[in-house]
Amino acid sequence: MSEHIKIEKSAGVLTLVMARPEKKNALTDAMYKALADALEASDGDPETRVILIKGEGDMFTAGNDITDFAAANAASANATGAGAEGPRNVFRFIRALGAISKPLVAAVQGRAVGVGTTMLLHCDQVILADNAQLTTPFVNLALVPEAASSLLLPARIGHIRAFSMFALGEAVGAQDALAWGLASHVVPLDELNTTAEQIAVRLAKQPLGAVIATKRLMRDAGQIAERMEVESAEFTRRLASPEAQEAFMAFAQRRAPDFSKFS
Ligand code: COA
Repeated sequence: MSEHIKIEKSAGVLTLVMARPEKKNALTDAMYKALADALEASDGDPETRVILIKGEGDMFTAGNDITDFAAANAASANATGAGAEGPRNVFRFIRALGAISKPLVAAVQGRAVGVGTTMLLHCDQVILADNAQLTTPFVNLALVPEAASSLLLPARIGHIRAFSMFALGEAVGAQDALAWGLASHVVPLDELNTTAEQIAVRLAKQPLGAVIATKRLMRDAGQIAERMEVESAEFTRRLASPEAQEAFMAFAQRRAPDFSKFS
């Protein structure tokens, strides 16, 4: 359990709320664990027909907690500390996103950074508030894409746009996200929760067996899982790099990173 993940169940909809607004819902290992536990359990739970993911406060999530990244980097550097093998629960969460058979719906306001955006690639309906901004600034942090996004994002929006998002950290606004096929709906901010809940409840009333079979037919879960493993190995290597150390230190010191000394 994590105090920063709220879990509710009603009318066949399991709602998972990232609730750490004072840190912009940055995801810690404990939060990933709570999310992974809930997703893994949902497939066997007859009361869950749809999963709805939301964030509290003014943004969906600022992505992975960078303090946790820095700790994994430091542990790798001295190869003694706990966590030297890299983060665990984030990979569990990511794998669960790829493997889940029931439909996923997301309601996104403000920024969705990093995994905040890559998790949307696994959602079957994505409702954006008109102030939503999707970013995947992995390279800005000297990291690489995860959650099979190196496969799914270019497939969805094309190589050039995906590369701009990954390598330059360019933000995509709500209307572009809708036009590019990253979202199903864009609504005014004050209608976000109601719209997302209505869609989730509507989906929950559909015949679940047919919904699950349709989702399975539409995605190559094996290929997604394979890509996640390849990405995770690269991500763990990058996480331990001096470039990444500089990026995490710069974030902590609220300054721009200087990558010029690394070749
Ligand atoms: N990890 C850890 N802490 C984070 C965080 C993250 N990913 N994102 C935000 N926070 C913390 C800030 O350090 C700050 O903490 P403090 O109040 O103790 O100083 C608090 O959340 C509020 O963030 P702040 O930066 O003041 O909010 P903002 O509205 O000005 O900016 C962001 C929001 C998301 C643009 C900015 O916080 C940011 O760029 N975060 C990093 C995003 C990122 O790179 N994530 C990883 C992607 S792979």
